[in-house]
Amino acid sequence: MIGLSKKIIIGITGSIAAFKTIQFISDLTKEDYEIEVILTEAGSRFVTPVSIQALTKKRVYIDVFDDDPGTITHVDLVKDADAFLVMPASATTIAKLAHGIADNMLTAAYLAATCPKVIAPAMNVHMFENPVTQRNLKQLVDDGALIVDPDVGLLACGDVGKGKLAKASDVKMILEYAMSEHPLKGYKVVVSAGPTQEAIDPVRFISNHSSGKMGYAIAKAAFTLGADVTLVSGQVALSPLPFIKNVSITSAQDLYEAMIEEAQDADFIIMSAAVADYTPATTATEKIKKNDSDLTLSLKKTKDILYELGQKKPKGQIICGFAMETTDLISNATKKLTKKNADLIIANSLRTAGAGFKTDTNIVTIIDQDGIRPLEIMSKDELGFVILAECLKKREAQS
Ligand SMILES: Cc1cc2nc3c(=O)[nH]c(=O)nc-3n(C[C@H](O)[C@H](O)[C@H](O)COP(=O)(O)O)c2cc1C
Repeated sequence: MIGLSKKIIIGITGSIAAFKTIQFISDLTKEDYEIEVILTEAGSRFVTPVSIQALTKKRVYIDVFDDDPGTITHVDLVKDADAFLVMPASATTIAKLAHGIADNMLTAAYLAATCPKVIAPAMNVHMFENPVTQRNLKQLVDDGALIVDPDVGLLACGDVGKGKLAKASDVKMILEYAMSEHPLKGYKVVVSAGPTQEAIDPVRFISNHSSGKMGYAIAKAAFTLGADVTLVSGQVALSPLPFIKNVSITSAQDLYEAMIEEAQDADFIIMSAAVADYTPATTATEKIKKNDSDLTLSLKKTKDILYELGQKKPKGQIICGFAMETTDLISNATKKLTKKNADLIIANSLRTAGAGFKTDTNIVTIIDQDGIRPLEIMSKDELGFVILAECLKKREAQS
């Protein structure tokens, strides 16, 4: 898993958004990251070292001269860091970092750090849009930092515009990207996720329990590993993922059309969507009224998307399908591998606790031409990386 055992330095500056970083730190510590926090003097007016220390179990640094004997903290602290995040980054600190001004613990440590750097600005819209700030941010990008663009919205000062600290989930995605190798750089990965909905009439549909969690985890992992990612998603309760192309679909036919279009130049296709096999033969244009008799629906087959993709597969493209079964999992999944011309099938059983639709974990068996490999239970986030590593191995074996 990407997060485990990584050391992150987090710098907090004098912004009204500083309180959001406390929750961010709390969430990271639960994932087992090692966190060291540096506050600017102004930052310490907005959040206190006491609450941060309680979360990180580490001393919080503010004064560059407040070294323990025998240590030079601003240099020692960053030596083995995996990433340096400034969140929120004020206009003042951004200006200092862009010009190598090292006049406090945060700016001195940033200058001394050789690890990947991520900057999440937060400020008034006019401060953000000011050419001086834009020049400074461009300088930081040219120097190799990753900027998490602020959101547009109502700002604490009452103005509406760009300057709101980016969502924690966006910062986390960029941070994980910054700390990762990028073996999928230059590759296009297309992932399908979630359920399809087959309309009976304008108010009713046939669907399934897919939450989309597995597909979203794969798409997020593909972004972290440097891919150009397209996520074709059915209607789910999850937010669209930032920094990738999100394509929203409703029916199996929509999914078919989107996948055929996106597959043309894809290097990897991962079909984790739960596609309806049957759809109503006709969709009523008006709501079907209740009456005294039973209602029989006539269903017709939908297109077999995995099969169609397998038939059109260009040389070098890797296709990974999913098989969810309640009986004969392995034999059905193995048949699927050959019938659909897929490179690998990820099989999971709805009958196994900890696997399947709505859980945050999964228990799968990977099936390919080399055999059948059952995996231990793991989080869907972690499994996303495992599946992509398997796909990459297949691609490399072909070239
Ligand atoms: C209530 C309040 C809110 C502030 N919010 C921000 C902000 O969101 N972004 C920003 O760049 N500066 C903000 N400032 C101004 C900075 O705190 C000020 O420029 C300070 O010098 C920044 O220093 P630092 O970068 O060393 O933390 C705010 C100031 C006050 C009093």
